Amino acid sequence: MDQKSLVLVKPDGVRKHLIGEIIARFERRGLKICALKMLVMSKDQAKYHYAEHVDKPFFPELEAFITGGPLVAMVVEGPNAIKAIRTMMGVTDPIESTPGSIRGDFALDKGENVIHGSDSPEAAEREIKNFFTPEEIY
Ligand code: RTP
Ligand code: MG
Repeated sequence: MDQKSLVLVKPDGVRKHLIGEIIARFERRGLKICALKMLVMSKDQAKYHYAEHVDKPFFPELEAFITGGPLVAMVVEGPNAIKAIRTMMGVTDPIESTPGSIRGDFALDKGENVIHGSDSPEAAEREIKNFFTPEEIY
């Protein structure tokens, strides 16, 4: 079943010149990029995106990081895209991520882990709305 996921190349990924590398991995896998933009996230957008984390002790640092520079937002579509992308990303702490995964290949820091991908269809639907209007999704 085709699913959509909201993917972010986080500000550290943009700084490390990984936009093309990450898009290429999705395209080679057979996933489709159906929306794409670069932007700096506002604090309101960050609080909406990370609503489940706003009360956690690490949130101020997370908010400062995610709003601290341009990032690339995209909608990626394909069969079981949510699970496929989460597996390609690696786990939250890059130290625990398998080499060959995006975080396992390009990150060492739990706070600056290069990429976000939606973790459920409900999260994807909510997160996509934070970045794209329906007309911007092809
Ligand atoms: P993301 O939402 O960014 O794709 O990452 P994730 O699902 O793998 O991890 P999540 O639990 O949703 O956490 C969101 C981001 O918050 C930072 N974090 N720091 N210091 C900590 O204990 C801690 N826990 C999470 C990470 O940067 C994580 O990507
Ligand atoms: Mg998450």
